[in-house]
Amino acid sequence: MHKILIKNIQELVQIREYNVKNVKGNEMNNIPTLKNAWLAIEDETIVSYGTMDNWPGISDWSNLEVIDAEGRIVLPTYCDSHTHIVYAGNRESEFVDRINGLSYEEIAAKGGGINNSAKKLQHSHEDDLYQAAITRIDEVIRQGTGAIEIKSGYGLSLEAELKMLRVIKRIKENIPIPVKATFLGAHAIPLEYKNNRRAYIDLIIDEMLPAIAEEKLADYCDVFCENNYFTPDETIEILLAGQNYGLISKVHAEQMSNYGGVLAGVKVNAISVDHLEYVAEKEIEALKHSDTMPVILPGAAFFLGLPYPPAKKMIEAGLPLAIASDYNPGSSPSGNMNLMNAIACIQYGLSPEQVINASTLNTAYAMGLSDNYGSITPGKKANFIITKEISSLAFMPYAFGSNLIDKVFIHGKEYKGI
Ligand code: NIG
Ligand code: FE
Repeated sequence: MHKILIKNIQELVQIREYNVKNVKGNEMNNIPTLKNAWLAIEDETIVSYGTMDNWPGISDWSNLEVIDAEGRIVLPTYCDSHTHIVYAGNRESEFVDRINGLSYEEIAAKGGGINNSAKKLQHSHEDDLYQAAITRIDEVIRQGTGAIEIKSGYGLSLEAELKMLRVIKRIKENIPIPVKATFLGAHAIPLEYKNNRRAYIDLIIDEMLPAIAEEKLADYCDVFCENNYFTPDETIEILLAGQNYGLISKVHAEQMSNYGGVLAGVKVNAISVDHLEYVAEKEIEALKHSDTMPVILPGAAFFLGLPYPPAKKMIEAGLPLAIASDYNPGSSPSGNMNLMNAIACIQYGLSPEQVINASTLNTAYAMGLSDNYGSITPGKKANFIITKEISSLAFMPYAFGSNLIDKVFIHGKEYKGI
């Protein structure tokens, strides 16, 4: 057995009892920590922690690796519950178009946007998609991500959606962090179905879902519920069809308008509803009576210049809140969760404690992993970050452009590459 003892930790952050699945409302304002602490790990599991004045009674010092974390903070790795990290090519020309005045909707209307990525992906080889995704995943793990959700949705045909999901499966089998796979066939209406959207929805329900279930390629089913994409009724129909195959629901909701995605998600008991820039009172009320996690994606709102989601208001109303990156080529070409937290603090007015709760425990919940990830808890997996020498936790979102991560441990091993 390999044992690790990390000593002299300036602050051990996000220590929780095993039964805390997520935190909501006022609970989000606090983050339990221990100053001047130690943390003990056996193989891939966290076993105990304490303060340095109460040194652990270690009887057997053989095979024990001791790490001195003097001046450093230890926190759980981030969970990123919303990414589109498998994609072909980039879309920086659309980025330039937007700088020059076109909107996301205008670019999509002239064949850009999701359909542009779909065209590129349909012509890509599985191996190339896999390699490109691995390069991105390697970067985000070094930036502190210790669990990731990955969506399809740039295929938009039976073959190409299956290709994407097979790439995600291969990623799942080959990277050290846990992966959740999401089927997002309902990401956009493909150009060839523009005048017959019903036929595309039938293709999703009658052909894509059974084929995906047959190969066990997905854990979740997601829909982009938005004007010009999928209506709330279509969203519910597709998500319920997914549930018939055991796929848990998620929704891209209220990103460009108040369109009904949150209410649709709550109705089908979605595990999360994501984006939320246009959330209003009725959505907040509905979420209060649900187990659905609201997830904000600060990278996409930042990159597209969207209005801020009412993040503080949701917390003040007693809701839980999670943060994810939405890493994708069109609206958030970054998976850096440190940056997502910084944007949520700087622009949305969340506190450092709130964003750490949102990007660790609550995002773990949003991807069904809070039993094993998202906090420093005996029995959970030893996925954690050791920072560089920093003065306090608040320094992380404060120094938003610096890389403050020294080491990332995944399942008890220092991450050195895939
Ligand atoms: O989450 N909102 C829909 N889907 C993505 C954008 C994808 C794209 O532009 O390629 C998002 O922002
Ligand atoms: Fe997304």
